[in-house]
Amino acid sequence: MNIDVVILAAGQGTRMRSDLPKVMHQLAGKSLIQHVLDTANQLESSHIHLVVGHGAEQVKQSVDSRVNCVIQSEQLGTGHAVQQTLPYLRQDSIVLILYGDVPLIHISTLNKMLSLVNEQQIGLLTVELDAPSGYGRIIRSGEGLVSAIVEQKDAKDEQLAIKEINTGILAVKSSHLRQWLPGLSNNNAQGEYYLTDVIALAAQNNIKIETVQPGQEQEVQGVNSRVQLAELERWYQQRQAVVLMEQGASLLDPGRFDLRGELEVGQDVVIDVNVIIEGKVKLGDNVRIGANTIIINSVIGNNVDIQANSILDQTEVSDGCSIGPFARLRPGTKLAEKAKVGNFVETKKTHIGRGSKVNHLSYIGDSEIGEAVNIGAGTITCNYDGVNKFKTVIEDGAFIGSNTSLVAPVRIGTKATVGAGSTITREVASNELGIARGKQRNIPDWKRPEKKK
Ligand code: UD1
Ligand code: CA
Repeated sequence: MNIDVVILAAGQGTRMRSDLPKVMHQLAGKSLIQHVLDTANQLESSHIHLVVGHGAEQVKQSVDSRVNCVIQSEQLGTGHAVQQTLPYLRQDSIVLILYGDVPLIHISTLNKMLSLVNEQQIGLLTVELDAPSGYGRIIRSGEGLVSAIVEQKDAKDEQLAIKEINTGILAVKSSHLRQWLPGLSNNNAQGEYYLTDVIALAAQNNIKIETVQPGQEQEVQGVNSRVQLAELERWYQQRQAVVLMEQGASLLDPGRFDLRGELEVGQDVVIDVNVIIEGKVKLGDNVRIGANTIIINSVIGNNVDIQANSILDQTEVSDGCSIGPFARLRPGTKLAEKAKVGNFVETKKTHIGRGSKVNHLSYIGDSEIGEAVNIGAGTITCNYDGVNKFKTVIEDGAFIGSNTSLVAPVRIGTKATVGAGSTITREVASNELGIARGKQRNIPDWKRPEKKK
């Protein structure tokens, strides 16, 4: 069955008080509209039509080019919005109406609704709310059949008492929309063409309206303000946290954990508070992550200890490594097994070999470090001359004394030693000691200057 998904996203979102179109605001690191698109893309043989208006260009540029963006230049109502897509809807398809600002609708709920649609039936997603104010109310006849939707502003007092509300999400044959949409009127309290009026038209034509309820209320929660966005974000994060805990990760406080992307976890992973995971991240078994750590698009092996306040971005960390606290591993960092990168160490485009250590206060960039190398505190690879970047190679078993500057391109051979405080500008060959620092001179009976009277 062909499905034409119509996503409404032309509204301004005044209450966000933002220059950014509402549907471009992010939830869990992804725009609201992208959440909806990702869900819609899970439906087979679907075409996606996105109705845009306010901030149309910006929204259009942010979405996949396969999405058919349809401009609604004046926002004359939800019925008018859907009407703009009529020329693009396939004959005989089922049209699924979604909202760009309702990001967490679940595929299972949509499938349930879609399965009810045919020439004689419409699927409508409704929910019962204790506080239904603001929403369209579902009107049912004596036999309990849905006969209409009445908007809050058009409702009579007894209708306002109804708790079953219209979520806005519905599925209907395209042939029915072609029949009914052109006949909508805007003779109502808001002077808008209401999509919801098709429900009464359907009932009058003896088409049955089958209602479905979402698995969870948050699935149909719209975002109209930053407060609502924050509430939905927390709910979503809490739900992701539960899934991770079920997969074998301990979150020391699930309320202080943020996953903005996809995280795969092994068993007995322990994540301390305020950890942020972005993009695609994989953690092996027995990984411990200290507080306030950020990990972006990285793969971490088994038995790795990442201590507090570290940042890892596009890195590969092998089994048994130890990182941080306060380490910054930038893109292209690869640590072989049991490597150690300690506090206030920054690395970039660097491979650190098995069992090698960079324990304190160093910058290691564009470097190839062999196995069992020890890099002393305060070592800097001078990889940049202001124009070009150069490589530093440090071979197996080398020992770099503290406070060394390695002016790249430069090579330190196997088991070579560099004396502390050296500025190394040329190769130190295997087993050699390289030392390049001012010679110490001691002056006896040195008198310190005295303060003038
Ligand atoms: C709509 C429903 C209401 C339902 C509520 C659920 C109608 C008439 N009413 O009301 O029954 O309870 O949603 O949240 O449909 N939009 C356009 N173009 C327009 C108008 C709206 O694209 O011309 C988009 C908006 O960007 C928004 C969505 O449609 O994403 C809903 O519009 P909104 O004005 O918020 O509808 P409600 O009054 O909330
Ligand atoms: Ca709304």
